[in-house]
Amino acid sequence: MKYAIVLAAGKGTRMKSSINKVMHPIADKPLIGHLVDRLKKLNVDQIDVVVGYQQEQIREYLKDSVRYSEQHEQKGTGHALLHVDSLKDKKGKTIILYGDCPLVQTETMEMMFKEGENSDLVVLSAKLEEPGVYGRIVRNSLGEIIRIVEFGDANQEQRRISEINTGIYCVDNELLFKYLPQITNNNHSQEYYLTDIVELFTKNGHKVKSVRVDDINEVMGINDRKQLAKADAWLKERINNHWMTEGVTIVDPQNTYISEDCVIGQDTTIHPNVVIKGKTVVGTNTVITSNSWLENATIGDNTRIESSKIIDSRVDNNCTIGPFAHLRMNTHVMDDNRLGNFVEFKNTIFHKNSRCAHLTYLGDCEVGEDVNIGCGVVTVNYDGKNKYRTKINDGAFIGSNCNLIAPIVIGKNAVVAAGSTISKDVLDNDMVIERAESITKKEGGLKYKNKKKLEGDKK
Ligand code: UD1
Ligand code: CA
Repeated sequence: MKYAIVLAAGKGTRMKSSINKVMHPIADKPLIGHLVDRLKKLNVDQIDVVVGYQQEQIREYLKDSVRYSEQHEQKGTGHALLHVDSLKDKKGKTIILYGDCPLVQTETMEMMFKEGENSDLVVLSAKLEEPGVYGRIVRNSLGEIIRIVEFGDANQEQRRISEINTGIYCVDNELLFKYLPQITNNNHSQEYYLTDIVELFTKNGHKVKSVRVDDINEVMGINDRKQLAKADAWLKERINNHWMTEGVTIVDPQNTYISEDCVIGQDTTIHPNVVIKGKTVVGTNTVITSNSWLENATIGDNTRIESSKIIDSRVDNNCTIGPFAHLRMNTHVMDDNRLGNFVEFKNTIFHKNSRCAHLTYLGDCEVGEDVNIGCGVVTVNYDGKNKYRTKINDGAFIGSNCNLIAPIVIGKNAVVAAGSTISKDVLDNDMVIERAESITKKEGGLKYKNKKKLEGDKK
C-alpha cells in the first residue's frame, strides 16, 4: 500500500496574510492543489492532509478528495504527523510532503516510492550554493546520512554544509509511527522536529538513504511572497516551455499565463498578455490575441479569439470571436460563426453559420443556423424576479436595435424589423415591425438650429 501525508497546519507567519499559506495560488492553483493533484496521478491509496490554522479554507477547497487530520496547536512537523490517526498501524510506504513545497513533480514522487522499496527511510536532499535556513544533512566519515540538523540548532561547521533537507520523505509506515512518539522538543525552537526521525532510524539500525533531486527548483520551499513569486515564475516557464515543445507558438512567454491543467493544440498562436485558466482546452491552428482571458473554456480548431473573455463556455471550429466579446455560463458557439465587438452571450447556444457582429446581449437564448443578429439586439430575459428563454429559429433575421422580451420564439426565416421591441412570438416566415409612425416638420431642423443660435447670442 502507498500513502501520502501533506503537512499544512502551520501558521505561515512569514506570508503576512489572512489567507492560509498553502492556499496562495501559483499558476492559477493553490499550492496544496498542485501537490494533491500530482499525488492523485500516482494513485496512492490514501492522501491525508494535516490541517490546523485556517483549516476551513483548505477543507473548502479540497472538499472530500482527501482525508483530514487536525493538529490544533502547531508544535512542529513531528508533532503534526502524530495526529494522522488513520494511518497508524498500517503496513506500507508513506510519502511525506510539506504543503509549502508545491513544485515537486510527479516523477520525483514516483522515484521516492521506488527508492523506498529497499530502504526504511528515504530523504530527498539537494545541494544548494546558498543553503539559507534549510535543515542540513549530516553524514558520517563513510558518507552515510546520520541525521538532519535544523539551521537554528546547527553550529558554524554544520551551517557550512551545502546539502539540505527538502522536506520530502518516503518512509516505512509502521516504523514511522513507532518512532514518532520518541521525538522530543529539546531544541532551539522547542518544536517536535520530524527531521529527528532520521537519527532515530539510524541509531536503531534501520536503513536510511538520501537521494538528490535533479532540479533544485522543484524543492523550493515557499515561506514568503518573494518565494511565492519565484515559484510562480518557475512553474509558468515550465508550462510555457512544455507547450512550445508541443508546437504551440507563444509570442511572449514572459507574459503568457497558462494554468497547469490546460491543453493547447499544435500550431495555435498565443499573443502577449493572454490568460488561460482552469481546465481550458484549445484546439489546433487557433489564434488567441492579446488580453484574452479563457477560463474553463473549450475552443476548437482554426478559430480566432480576439481580446475576449470566455468563461465556462465553448466555441467550436472556424469561428471569429471579438474583439471584446464576453461569453459565459455554458454558452456554446458552434462551427463557422462570427461574433463581433461588444457582444455578450450568457447561457446561450448559437448554432452553425450565424452572425452577431456588434453590440449585443443574448442571455438564456438558443439561436438556430444561418441567423443574422443585427447591431444592438437585446434579449430581455429578466423581469427582476425570474429569467426567461428566447428561441430564434433557423434563417431568422433580427434587425438592428431590437428588444426581444422573453419568453419568446422567433420562427424560421422570420424577420424582426430594426428598432422593434417585441413580446409576442413571431411565426415562421412572418415579418414583424413595431415602430411609432414618424412625424416630419417641414424645415423644423433649420428653425430649431436658428432658435438655439439666438439664445446663444443673448447670453
Ligand atoms: C522544514 C524542515 C527543514 C527543511 C525545510 C524544507 C523540519 C523541522 N524542518 O523547515 O529541515 O529544510 O522544511 O522546506 O521539518 N507544519 C505543520 N504543523 C506544525 C509545523 C509545520 O503542519 O506544527 C507544516 C507547515 O504548514 C508547512 C510544513 O509543515 O507546510 C513545514 O513547516 P515549516 O515551519 O515551514 O518548516 P521549515 O522551517 O520550512
Ligand atoms: Ca517551510
